[in-house]
Amino acid sequence: MQVRIAHDAPENARAGALVVPAFSDTPPSSATRAADAAVGGALTDVVESGEFKGKLCETTLVHAKERPFRRVLVVGLGDRSAFEPKLLVRYAGAAVRALGRKGIAEIAVALPDEAAKDPQACAAAVAEGALTGAFETSLYQAKPERPLAMREVAILASGIDEGELERGLHRGVVVGEAVNFARRLAVTPANDMTPTHLADEATKACNDAGIAIDVHDAQWAREQNMGSFLSVSNGSAQPPKFIVMRYMGDQTSKELLALVGKGITFDTGGISLKPAERMEDMKYDMSGGAGVVATMWAIGKLKPRVNVVGIVPATENMPGGRATKPGDVVKAMNGKSIEIINTDAEGRLILADALCYANALGATRIVDAATLTGACVVALGHVNAAIVSNDETFAERFLACAQPTGERFWRMPLDDEYGDQMKSDIADLKNTGGRDGGTLTAAAFLKAFVGETPWVHLDIAGTAYLDRASAWSAKGPTCVPVRSFLAIARGLSKA
Ligand code: BES
Ligand code: MN
Ligand code: ZN
Repeated sequence: MQVRIAHDAPENARAGALVVPAFSDTPPSSATRAADAAVGGALTDVVESGEFKGKLCETTLVHAKERPFRRVLVVGLGDRSAFEPKLLVRYAGAAVRALGRKGIAEIAVALPDEAAKDPQACAAAVAEGALTGAFETSLYQAKPERPLAMREVAILASGIDEGELERGLHRGVVVGEAVNFARRLAVTPANDMTPTHLADEATKACNDAGIAIDVHDAQWAREQNMGSFLSVSNGSAQPPKFIVMRYMGDQTSKELLALVGKGITFDTGGISLKPAERMEDMKYDMSGGAGVVATMWAIGKLKPRVNVVGIVPATENMPGGRATKPGDVVKAMNGKSIEIINTDAEGRLILADALCYANALGATRIVDAATLTGACVVALGHVNAAIVSNDETFAERFLACAQPTGERFWRMPLDDEYGDQMKSDIADLKNTGGRDGGTLTAAAFLKAFVGETPWVHLDIAGTAYLDRASAWSAKGPTCVPVRSFLAIARGLSKA
């Protein structure tokens, strides 16, 4: 799909449909007024009749066959006072999905008057929303049931600073493509999405974006003493891969941001086998890793002045004759011994070595993302991801960067006492601390491998994929946390 800026006034837009905004309160934006006049007041009629209230992503379609745009789709934006540019992701996504389904391939999207305050962010949001709205999960269907016809989305500039719109458009397109890339990796089933395949996709993406990449194998991991990472791969016939991507955007700086993503391409639980119900969802257990790969691609395209390393430990978690057993003791890269109580708590085992490795590379800040605990789904559901940190200032900075992206996080505590639940009788640590506070004991485990480096941990178990579609997005993988990863990289960069 192509997204571009167009200069036509709304009433002259040439397209299969003209998309205009409507807040739940008056007065209408100028584009909406112009469209209304062009269709003889039909939009006013719809509003006055009470059948359209302007709620966020509510839509109504009016035909106008005499006009160059042929139809007007009014899309609700909710209360004017609550407007933020990020809502335009949903606005554009809802338009693309509603009209694309009807076989309309070209649309012209008008911006609300509010867009003049931050045209760059608004253009970025529309571009991102248009691209991500068009994403479908029907990758393996010979003939998708309800294909989206959308090919071209024109953002109507009408009087808004054009340079700003173009800059926003460029960023929005890269972010949207990165989001869809992460979603495609995540939704790909585990028989295709093996650690080797994930590494190949990462290699292709890095080559495309000019990012340095090393794909390390099990032998290399043994030389690095990554006994914790390797213990998870023991039961699998698929070789593990340890993926390291490097972008040096600021040679003058010693600062290095490490993005670390859990790359379990399938989580059966291992010997501590999971029940069958919903086990198919465990193909999504590499969502954090997919997010890191897609983010590195986008960073290569956007070129912020910041140094970033992306680290993805990738392996399956399988039972098998060589699989790790409950009670086994393994040793991580930093020398700490771990008693494995439950082989289904494997995410923290692979992250332990990845976090050590981030420090070995000289990371000055670390952000990790992982579909780590079912407890996080219980605590926060599918709305917020958990954020846990060892550094107040960095956590606040991360949250401030993430807020405008629309990805939501809720801070959870990390008192030392959570770590007490992770003490083993036989080893330095054990890998599970019981049911209570499961998200926090998992975080306390990870903390033992980050040292003093300011670190933010994101538990995305409840937000990485959704069972329900929305008006603006297909169901399935969400790509959380790609937008926030990009936002923190941008936030730390020198302009
Ligand atoms: N990948 C799962 C966590 C998960 C659960 C993600 C549900 C998404 C939806 C993780 O590896 C896991 O199995 N965690 C265990 C840990 C437990 C054994 C301490 C869990 O949460 O049950
Ligand atoms: Mn597991
Ligand atoms: Zn897992």
